[in-house]
Parts: sequence; structure tokens; C-alpha cells
Amino acid sequence: MPHADSALVPDSITTKPEFWAHVYTQLDLLLDAKQRNWVPNLSNAASLIYNSLLAFHPHFGADTRAVNWCGFYLDAQLFPISGVEQRLLLGPFNGRPACQYINTTPGKARGVCADAFIQGRTVLVPDVEAYPGHIACDGDTKSEIVCPLIAQSRVLGVLDLDCLAEQGFDEDDKAGLEKIAQLLVNACDW
Ligand code: SME
Repeated sequence: MPHADSALVPDSITTKPEFWAHVYTQLDLLLDAKQRNWVPNLSNAASLIYNSLLAFHPHFGADTRAVNWCGFYLDAQLFPISGVEQRLLLGPFNGRPACQYINTTPGKARGVCADAFIQGRTVLVPDVEAYPGHIACDGDTKSEIVCPLIAQSRVLGVLDLDCLAEQGFDEDDKAGLEKIAQLLVNACDW
């Protein structure tokens, strides 16, 4: 099967739990046990999730309710760069350009990604306008979900999804994304 076809969603899939189980299986097939670098693995994961969501017409098809961004922000301390501030760095993503880093320094941190990273829990935002400190990388975004990547209690970064509609994500998406985040954590060397 061509790699691109992994983002196709069969018409037989109609519920979100079915959808996320399908995406999990497709990602598992794409990941290669001999290749544990996070760059290709997170790149394909961002593309797979984003394009699968757009192909899943009952909920996220390419209309006013579509997903408009899917990607990763990673703890800068994972990489050998200098800097005084604690921050998340933009990682692999699909969608329009986004902010390159997010401050996570205590007292200065703000935004959904920083909150999910610092608290080590998924943050569901039904209305970004009502979320204190929300960082608007794209003014068209109406709702958001951010899920942490956690390895043995250490938060490595976050997986962030934006939607063009309010209340774009729910508990089914949270459960599906948390399983995918764990699959990715286990599939890469950090
Ligand atoms: N909205 C995020 C920033 C990242 S963009 O959505 C891609 C936040 O508040 O942290």
C-alpha cells in the first residue's frame, strides 16, 4: 500500500472511537521498529492525524468544522541548544505556519500548550476565546485540544490540534489522542 493511503478512512468508520482505533492501527503500521528517530515518526504522525481527520467526513470533513492544524511542540531541553528560558519548540506539523516556541518558564508561561505541558494532562478547549492566555497562532481557530507526550513521568512535549468550529473535540478525541501519544513515546528514542 502506498504510504499516502494510510490517511484514507473507509466509509464503514462512522464513530470517533472507531476512527481513532483506525488511526492508531495505521500509525502502528507506518512506524518502523528499526527507525526510532522522532523526526520522521512525528512528521508522519502529524500528517496521518491531520489528513485522516479531514477524510473523516461525519465529524471533521473539509468544511467549516475542519481540523486546521495538527502538530507537536517539544521540550527544548531535549535538544542541545542554549537559552535561558524554558520553552517548547515547534516540531513536525501539518497546517499553516505557527509560533516557533512557547515559553514554559514558571511565572511567564501562558497558553494551552504550556498548561498541558506543565500540568502533564490533556487540556480540552471548547472555545479558545474563553481560555485565559490562549495563544492565537491562527485567528481562524475556534477550539483546541492539547495532549502531553509522557515517558516515565517526564513530559517530553505536546500534541496540539486546532479546529475551525467551537467544541471541535471531545472526550473520545482525548482518549484516542492519548493512546496515539503513548504509541509515539514508545516508538522513539528521546
Ligand atoms: N494555541 C496554542 C499555540 C499553538 S497553535 O495553536 C499551533 C496555545 O495556546 O498554546
